[in-house]
Order: sequence, then C-alpha cells, then structure tokens
Amino acid sequence: MASSALKAHLKTLKAHRNRLKRKHMRELFEDAGRFAGYSICMEDFLFDYSKTRLDEKARDALIELAKSARVERGREQMFAGRKINETEGRAVLHTALRHSSDNPVMVDGEDVMPKVRAVLARMRAFADDVRSGAYKVTGGKVTDVVNIGIGGSDLGPAMAALALSPFHDGPATHFVSNVDGADLHDTLKKVKPETTLFIIASKTFTTQETMRNALSAQKWTQDQLDSKKSGIHFAALSTNLERTREFGIDDDRTFGFWDWVGGRYSVWSAIGLSVMIAIGPNHFADFLSGAEEIDTHFRDAPLAENIPVMMALLGIWHRNVWGFASHAVLPYDNRLARFPAYLQQLEMESNGKHVMMNGKEVTEDTGAIVWGEPGTNGQHAFYQLIHQGTSVIPCDFLLAAKPQEQMADHHALLAANCLAQSEALMVGKTLEEATAELKAKGMDKAEVKRLAPHKVFEGNRPSCMFLYRELDPKTLGKLIALYEHKVFVQGVIWGINSFDQWGVELGKVLAGELIPMVKDADAINGKDASTEGLLKTFHALRG
Ligand code: F6P
Repeated sequence: MASSALKAHLKTLKAHRNRLKRKHMRELFEDAGRFAGYSICMEDFLFDYSKTRLDEKARDALIELAKSARVERGREQMFAGRKINETEGRAVLHTALRHSSDNPVMVDGEDVMPKVRAVLARMRAFADDVRSGAYKVTGGKVTDVVNIGIGGSDLGPAMAALALSPFHDGPATHFVSNVDGADLHDTLKKVKPETTLFIIASKTFTTQETMRNALSAQKWTQDQLDSKKSGIHFAALSTNLERTREFGIDDDRTFGFWDWVGGRYSVWSAIGLSVMIAIGPNHFADFLSGAEEIDTHFRDAPLAENIPVMMALLGIWHRNVWGFASHAVLPYDNRLARFPAYLQQLEMESNGKHVMMNGKEVTEDTGAIVWGEPGTNGQHAFYQLIHQGTSVIPCDFLLAAKPQEQMADHHALLAANCLAQSEALMVGKTLEEATAELKAKGMDKAEVKRLAPHKVFEGNRPSCMFLYRELDPKTLGKLIALYEHKVFVQGVIWGINSFDQWGVELGKVLAGELIPMVKDADAINGKDASTEGLLKTFHALRG
C-alpha cells in the first residue's frame, strides 16, 4: 500500500498502543472470553494469539489496515496468476503446485495445471521405482539419496525430511548445501558410490555452491564406478533444461518446474523429490493437501478469522507499532529443528526490502529478524533474554498434542514446558510477588530487598501458540503454507515485492571477482584496504 496510507493507519494503531501500554496482559485476561475471542481453530489446528497486547479496538484497526491495503484483492491477483512479482515479470503460483481441483490456473492465457500434474506424475513414478528398487543404479537398489542444493533448493526438503522422519521408509536421505568442502566430504563418507543417487536441485542450475558440489560428486562417482554408467546416479530438479543436459543428466531423470515458483516457495514442486522418495508419494500428497487446505482457508475465511492474515497483522503490530525488531520461532517439536532456518529464508529473503514496488524508499521497517531453536533446548540458552532482557521478542510456539512415539512421560514434560513458557511471558512476576516468595522462604529483610528485583519478570511479553494434533505430512503442509501467506500479506501492506531477492546478488558478484585473488596472491588487485589486508593475511596464514 502507499506509504502515506500506511503512515495514517500506523498513527491510529500507535494511539491504540499507547492506550494498551497502560494495561498489563493480566488485565486483558480478566475477560473470560479472551481465549475464545483471540484464537482461531481449524479442526485439529489451533492458532492462539490471546497472549498478545491486542484488544478489540486495536484488532479492528489492524483489520482496517488490511482492508485499506486491499489484501483481498492482492490475494486474488496472486491466485489468478497475475505477474505480481513485478521486478522479475513473473506470476507467483506456488499455490498451483498443491491445487487439486479441476479449475484451471492460468498464466499468460495458458492453464498450467496439466504441466504441474504431469511433473507430479513423473516424480511419483520415479519415486516409486527408486523406493521399490525397480530403478537400479550400479549396485542395484538405491540405498542413499543425496540432495545437492542450497537456499530454497535445500532448506525446504531438508527441513521437511527431518520433520517427517517418522514417515521415512525410503532410502536414507542426505542434504549437502554448503560450498565448504567439509559438507560434501562428510556426507560422502556415509554413502557408497554404487548405491547412491545424487539429486542436483537448482532452479537456475547456475548457483555456484550447488554446481561446485555437483561437479565434485560427479567426479567422486566417476572415479569409483564405470564412468560411462555414472549418469544413472544423477537426477536433476531445475527450470533450466539446457544446463541440466550440459551437466550430463538425461531428460528422463530431470524434473522441471517454472519461473512462477520462487526458490523459497519450491518445496511443493520437483524440489520436493527427495522428500517424496523418503516418505513415499502418498504421504507427499498429504503434505500438499495440508497446504491446499490453508490456501482455501486463506481465500475464504473473513479477515479476522483468517490465520495467516492475523499472523501478518500481528507481525505489523509488533514490528511497526511497538518497534519489536525480532521474532522468535520456538518449536516444541524436536523434528522441527530446521523450521526456524527455513522461515529465515521465507520471511527474510521475501520481506527484507527497503524499496517499495514503485521504486520509492520504504518509510517503515519491513521484515522482522526471524530466529529460533527447538524448546526445551532454547530454554537453557537464550530464554533468559526473552524473559528478562531489555528487548521484547514476540514468540511463536509450536506444539503437537500427540507425539509420534510413546516414551514414558516425555511428551507431557515437553508440553508442560511449552505452555509454561507462554504463560510466564504473559503473566510475569511482580516485585511484590517476588518479595513475598523470598519472605516465605524465611530470608531476612535485607536479603529479600537485595534479591527481589532480580527475580522480577515484567511479563506482558507477546507470544502466539500453534497447537496441532500431531506433526504429520498434512500438518507440516499447513504450517508452511500459513507462514507463506503471512509473508505475502505483510508484503502487500508494506508495498514491497516479496518475491524477488536482489539483495543476494552483490555478494555473489564480488565472490566471483575474489575467487582468483583467493587462489593466487599475485592476483590481488583493486580492493579496499580491509579486503586487501584480509586477502594478504589469508595467504600468509595458508603458507
Ligand atoms: O540465495 C539466493 C537464491 O537465489 C535463493 O533465492 C534460492 O533459493 C537459492 O539462491 C538457490 O537457487 P537455485 O535453486 O537456483 O540454485
């Protein structure tokens, strides 16, 4: 939306904030309907945002903001295949990848659904063959799949493969992303060349890190196997057929997708092949259907009952109205360990922008800094700062009601910790309460006075809870799609393009220039004093 309109809305919202600043969340919870009024339930999936500093008037003002930003119109443009990625002239249709009805999805006058279904059918056939052993490599059945990719061509499948490991009944899956040779080296130590399938995942098939790793994997395979037959150990996931052919991967082992699938939105496309091979095509279909359910919810639910819309508005409320710069994602689900990293790309590559769609500088802060670790580990590391530090960090907690394994009372302990953290952040502990506690322990007056301030928790710190039945493929699909649409709504409100990533380009170009200088000290030339000094020291240290 235009920055002047956003400014006007933020002015109203800041007046609500000033009013709410005088209230502790404890007071908001005096309303018996607080939980029901500030949570959204979709069958076995609940989003609770009651522990935020929001009341009805402030929420109404946020909904007004979404209406005036024409979020609903933007959403329909996206689903309709309009080229809303204006700086790259592309449509944004990751939703088509999980679209199961017969309705066409049009881009440039063409229904893309037949192509989507054709690739999905080929992936399914290939995954079935790899899983059953009908597809044979030099040593027979594939025992290990190594996905080589980076960014969206790694984070999505790597995160999903870990999250869905209880459903994993295919070959072992490995992910190599970093150009640091240690990554590939350590992975190759775990696999045998004769039974390994490498999947080279790269939308462009030009990404430096991926191409380096792919070539090294190819050489490693050729060095140990009949090099003429080594091709059967490689498959490709890409939009760039020319490059996959040049690399030597047959078209029948190449799975395509399209420019309207952004890298960080591509786990639903051919980029998900390693996940499909791991968990099987039927579970992968459940994963897609979970996301599709959220697409339908996002399109149909009124704004105030729309989970991704409310997630986005809460993000704006925290970032632009309260000035909270970072956002923690805290899964109480160990297998979601890579989910925060996945969301870092989704949110920060999408909305880390300083220029609006119209080329003008933004006037408000955009994308929050996203970070997190699974609970309960985080509790013993950085939660101190979340509870008592000087920065307020809104948190998203994620919790399954049912664990995948029944192990003593592990899950009860996990759930209790998760609920306790969100309660503690909200309720806090006053000086009076801390004092009373210490007195009750029989401490003398002076000691109580000395210690009590250290025991105070301001509380009043916002958090949201995602509570779902269990972490299965469908739930994972839902979770990812919720955050995707959240990012989209925020992009519309900020008036930025959430679907390009020019900010990653400069570093890539400079790395290209630096490679010869890193390889050879005599090539050092034309660099600033720091870079030159670092290069020279690098060479000196290397000897
Ligand atoms: O880091 C920039 C980026 O273009 C990401 O957007 C993308 O997911 C990643 O690189 C990998 O790109 P590719 O799939 O083309 O190798």
